Amino acid sequence: MEQRVYLDHAATTPMVPAAREAWLQQSAEFGNPSSLHASGRRQRQAVEEARELIAGLLGTRPSAVVFTSGGTESDNLAVKGLFWRARATSGADRVVTSSIEHHAVLDPILWLEADQGAQVTWLPVDSVGRIDEDVLAATLADPSGVAVCSVMWANNEVGTVQPVHRIAEACRAAGVPFHTDAVQALGHVPMDLGELRADAVTLSSHKVGGPFGVGALVLDPGLALTPVLHGGGQEREVRSGTLDAPSIVGFAAAVEHAVKGQEQRAFHLVTLRERLIGGVVASVPDVIVNGDLGTAPDERLPGNVHLSFPGCEGDLLLMLLDAAAIDCSTGSACTAGIPEPSHVLMAMGRSEEQARSSLRFSLSESTTEADVDAVVSALPGAVERARRAGGARAQVS
Ligand SMILES: Cc1ncc(COP(=O)(O)O)c(C=O)c1O
Repeated sequence: MEQRVYLDHAATTPMVPAAREAWLQQSAEFGNPSSLHASGRRQRQAVEEARELIAGLLGTRPSAVVFTSGGTESDNLAVKGLFWRARATSGADRVVTSSIEHHAVLDPILWLEADQGAQVTWLPVDSVGRIDEDVLAATLADPSGVAVCSVMWANNEVGTVQPVHRIAEACRAAGVPFHTDAVQALGHVPMDLGELRADAVTLSSHKVGGPFGVGALVLDPGLALTPVLHGGGQEREVRSGTLDAPSIVGFAAAVEHAVKGQEQRAFHLVTLRERLIGGVVASVPDVIVNGDLGTAPDERLPGNVHLSFPGCEGDLLLMLLDAAAIDCSTGSACTAGIPEPSHVLMAMGRSEEQARSSLRFSLSESTTEADVDAVVSALPGAVERARRAGGARAQVS
């Protein structure tokens, strides 16, 4: 098989051996975890042990962990579920969110606005993609009618980490339920959900080396929301559907790997990230490094490198690198292929042209210096070709 350099770990990352092993072992079992017979009870026990493991690793209670099919479902459940519940009980119809959310939060909120009459406050971000806390404070000064505030922990495109602890505190003081999408943050920044005390936190398995199609919403057990899925009443009536025991067990093993190795991983990733940025800046004229340039865990995801190449179409650059056996992304995998400039970069004040000229490289613990060096040596030629193809002169903005 062709040797490829895979630098798209924020889109999905390979399963870690412990997760694959746990998944395989559990898949040899059978029985519905909700069944009362011994086979069902064995599956149930595996699910509950996984729930306890995840809760313990993240500093929360097992009863808070609601298993779902992944990040998209957890985000939809939090945003729609909290909105519907608040509207039904108190007539609340306001939603507060950032302008740089992943589509799994952005699109449900746009739908609530267009279809359900929600009044949305979009929190602006600065040039590195961090929300304006003054606007948040001004918005929460009148919290009446706010059903939910949703701000992601770390951005999937430019890697900027938000001040989620202060946001959670501000929401708590205002009596507003706070949801954070922690899909990209898990395993990359220290995470203690007991300390954060958010009302709802979204997690996804395949972003941390677990199987696809499973995730969780860590939801304050005291907080009611309206389910999105109705059915058998699994997961304390919050999320119906037969539990996928092998995937849940694999997910828990991946979370254990992600959390226990977080500090060491961050050190490895920051070193490689600096090597990649340094190499590209030295060899590609006019390249722009996007996002926060800090290396602390509350500044930027350690494995994220986001670059703009003025005068290039990001899609063409991606294909040229693809031909050179390098996998990267123009941003969120979920929007790749749709020729729209990134809403994240636009919210950060970039031009449409710059937004279109961008690439994201996302690294993992398996990334090596040789992988980084392969990108550094392939990029100058690819950028030159893409600029020639575009016929555009490079502009520094
Ligand atoms: C920040 C963020 N939220 C949510 C999702 C969606 O997660 P899933 O792929 O598990 O549905 C992604 C995936 O790219 C993401 O990066």
